This record gives sequence, structure tokens and C-alpha cells, in this order.
Amino acid sequence: RPIVVDSVAALRAQIRAWRQDGLRIAMVPTMGALHDGHISLVRIALEKADRCLVSIFVNPTQFAPTEDLDKYPRQLARDLERLAEAGAHLAFTPTVSEIYPAGFATKISVGGPSSGLESDFRPTFFDGVATVVAKLFLQALPDYAIFGEKDYQQLCVVRQLCRDLDLPVEIIGAPTVRDAHGLAMSSRNAYLGEAELKVARKLNAILRRTASALTGSADEAGATDAAARALVEAGFQRVDYVAARESQTLAPWRRGRDGRLLAAAWLGKTRLIDNVEIPAA
Ligand code: PAJ
Repeated sequence: RPIVVDSVAALRAQIRAWRQDGLRIAMVPTMGALHDGHISLVRIALEKADRCLVSIFVNPTQFAPTEDLDKYPRQLARDLERLAEAGAHLAFTPTVSEIYPAGFATKISVGGPSSGLESDFRPTFFDGVATVVAKLFLQALPDYAIFGEKDYQQLCVVRQLCRDLDLPVEIIGAPTVRDAHGLAMSSRNAYLGEAELKVARKLNAILRRTASALTGSADEAGATDAAARALVEAGFQRVDYVAARESQTLAPWRRGRDGRLLAAAWLGKTRLIDNVEIPAA
């Protein structure tokens, strides 16, 4: 079973002990409600390093007041079981006041890849993510941190954060884990009813089809508009965006460059995101 600590002081004491033994440490930041996607990150962490630290913290600063902070799934006992099975060594499960004590007044705002896409619809989201990730990294100082491509823009923002602030953590991106129907695993999938689940499972196929079409077509707007219409026809109520971007910078994609097709769409009260690589010509 993993060691469980909930204070920064206890976390640092454990990390210090490992450092004294010359061990390499990989961190997997999460908000809990762990699924196979999270566990795949733990596996990569264990391949890269001697010790795997998983943080479980539902970070209030990345939720807007209208969002699902209160109903976000919390299941710590089950999460610790899953981490035990996976062989993680340490779980950091701080309270909100441990991370944001009274008087906390700092915000980290990353530019570059954080602009557009998610930020057009969740304008304070990446400030919240960047602030908590910077704190977690400075608390633990891991050698590596593993992030899923599922949240592709977040992965780009975290890379930018580390580069710009000289945080000595190597960021490793990990492929998206999907169910048998292509639906990306997500803690928020728990919100979906059976009929919604069927619709949700069409998202990835529509994106893959659109990405292939983009490779061979000069009409980018035509292809992404058609994808948005296909999502609505499939049963999504609202499409926030379907957009082709350059893989590294998330600047507008130009044909011949490495590209990523990213999308966000609503099913009832649940917002789903996914992304796929645009195949090379
Ligand atoms: P959370 O949504 O719990 O995700 C934690 C990590 O798991 C992220 O790196 C995410 O990209 C990855 N992940 C989620 N679903 C995945 C899937 N199907 N396949 C592969 N990886 C997947 O992302 C967050 O938490 C938070 O924003 C956090 C970074 C912890 C900051 O609060």
C-alpha cells in the first residue's frame, strides 16, 4: 500500500529520505476518482523512476463558480486501493487549507499555449492549474512528472510553465487511454447516463475522421465546421470548439506541420474534451 501523507512537511520528509538513498522520483498529479487513464500514468512513472508519488487534490482554483467543484467525484479509499494495486509508493492527499492557507494571494498565469481553446470557455482554468502544479512541483521536486495527452492543452501549458520558471522537472506526455469504443477515460464520464454514453462514444471517431480529412484537404474551416455539425447530429447539444493546432505551440495549424485536432462539446450537463493527432501527409 502507498504511504499516505496529507501535509507538505510530511511529503518533504519522505522525499528527503528517498533522495538520501539516491532514488529517482516521478510524480503523477491527479484530482482523484482514479481510472485506467490515471493508472497508465502511474505505470509510466514506475518505468521512469524508482519511486512514484501520486497527488490527489480536487483543486478549487481551477473550477469556475458555475462548474462542478461540489459534485466532482471523491472516492479516496477506492483510489488508495487502485494505487496499491498499481504499486505507487506515496499518495499526497492534502486538504484545501494545506494548499491554500488563509491569506494565499498568488496566481501563476502562463501565456503561449494557454490562449484560446479551453481558455475561451474556461478563462480562469489554466491559472488555477498552473498555480497548483507549480506548488505541487515545488513541494515535491520530482525528477519527472507524467501528464496525459487527454488534456492536451494542459500538457502544453505545464511544459511552458516549467520552461519559463526553470522548474527542474521533466514533463512526460502519455497517450490517452480509451474504452473499447474509443471514449477517452475521464472521471467526468461518471456523470453520463446510458444514452449519453452512446453519444459520447462517437466523439473520438468523428475527430479521427476529421483529422484524416484535414491531412488531404486545403479547406480546414470546412472540415472543422463539418465535424462540429456531425457532433450535433450525433447528439451533442453544444460544441465549444473543434480546432486544428500545431502540436507543440498550439498556434494555428499549417499544412505540413505536426498538427493536433482538439474539441470540446457538451452532453447534457457534462462537458467532454478529446483530441487526436492530425496524420502526416
Ligand atoms: P485529472 O483530471 O485527475 O487528471 C490527472 C492526469 O490524468 C492528467 O495528466 C490527465 O491528462 C490524465 N488523464 C486523464 N484521463 C486520461 C486518459 N483517459 N488517458 C491518459 N491520461 C489521462 O488534470 C487534472 O486532474 C488536473 O488539472 C491537475 C493536473 C491534477 C491539476 O489540478
